[in-house]
Amino acid sequence: MSAMPGEHGPITSAADVDLSDYAFWARPMSERERAFELLRALPHPAFYAEPEVSFAPRGPGYHALARHADILEASRTPEVFCSGDGGATNIPDMPPEFAEYFGSMINMDDPRHARLRRIVSRAFTPKMIKKFEADVEAAATKIVDDLLDRGPGCDFVTEVAARLPLKIICDMMGIPERDHGFVFDRSNRILGGFDPEYGGGDPATVAEHLLTAGMELDRLVQDLAAHRTAHPTGDLTSALVNANIDGERLTGQELGSFFILLVVAGNETTRNAISYGLRLLTRNPDQRALWLTDIDGHAPGAVEEIVRLASPVNFMRRKVTRDHEMNGTLYRKGEKVVLYYWSANRDEAVFTDPLRFDILRTEGPHVGFGGPGPHFCLGAHLARREITAMFRELLRRVPHIEGGSPQRLHSSFINGIKHMPCDF
Ligand code: HEM
Repeated sequence: MSAMPGEHGPITSAADVDLSDYAFWARPMSERERAFELLRALPHPAFYAEPEVSFAPRGPGYHALARHADILEASRTPEVFCSGDGGATNIPDMPPEFAEYFGSMINMDDPRHARLRRIVSRAFTPKMIKKFEADVEAAATKIVDDLLDRGPGCDFVTEVAARLPLKIICDMMGIPERDHGFVFDRSNRILGGFDPEYGGGDPATVAEHLLTAGMELDRLVQDLAAHRTAHPTGDLTSALVNANIDGERLTGQELGSFFILLVVAGNETTRNAISYGLRLLTRNPDQRALWLTDIDGHAPGAVEEIVRLASPVNFMRRKVTRDHEMNGTLYRKGEKVVLYYWSANRDEAVFTDPLRFDILRTEGPHVGFGGPGPHFCLGAHLARREITAMFRELLRRVPHIEGGSPQRLHSSFINGIKHMPCDF
């Protein structure tokens, strides 16, 4: 059994850091910052044995890419650093039975990836995007109305940050309001699969737990899809079931796994960016004061800076398809590399005073939405709109709201906040 947080010695060199030790991800953020600073300073990326899991044999290990330059280069070289062959969203290879629910385009390579992205992008038409922009504003207004009614002391994550992305993604897909809580719960189980609060924590049952949540979401979408095939509306599910590109349609499995990817990716990440955003404003009153001088004008810079420092998706992984040298390191066929976006977004070679929250920052690009390449976040535009709308409402109507001590999600994959009291 691994040591509990607090049982570790201090991190004084890169040799003290084990990213495969699950307990590492519960250590204080200041220690995580120190650990990755040390990893970025190494002449070559550190190589780790893979964490042991019950649902997959132990793989060959992985290079931990911590530097911005390596992550950019790996992202734009997908023919060498591939997302298929075991998946991008997990370090151990995804077992075949997971593919039914989690084998969507994020875990595929071209040409299959490109085909799916083409079909799906067709459904994300400018008209559809315009429509949900108005919905985002209205939903943010309603959430802040409710916050003011309820008064200070509530949980900012569940009462504010989580509500906006959940409502928008569910409305886009046409999921009725009565099922929103179900989607919230099942996406928490999928991304927080190892956190005891979301029913995880037992390595022996984690695979079953994830599969059950995937199966339940799949059932919801298959019912909805059957209904929309017969009675199309203007929602995304109708567009997806009826999308037809050069005679190609999504199969039932493709639709189900894409739906799961969308609700999970569209929910948790933006929620965590909003929660971290409030934390950053609380700890940086000078930046709040600056933002308040021109709420709309400073919003684009502030939102990018929130996503940079929040880095809600900590990593994605790739598998090496052939021997390849990159930035002075040799990567061998069959090895894995893990792209630590959270670390790249703090790389002192790119960002001056990288831990500082600076809404006027111009350096970058940050890689919070992924690096340049075929998998760059499909929802980045929507996420930016949601974060902007939420902070515009908060800063206008509750300008001095503060976020208290966050309860972090125990996860190596998602940099999440489960609960955070707020005061105003
Ligand atoms: C702040 C919020 C968000 C963050 C930080 C984020 C982060 C990311 C990252 C890092 C990737 C890259 C995956 C890779 O390179 O392997 C990605 C891909 C993706 N994201 Fe997001 N995301 C956010 C919001 C959203 C939203 C709102 C949606 C959907 C409505 C979404 C849907 C997707 C999809 C479908 C992909 C896969 C794209 C592909 O494989 O071609 N994301 N996201």
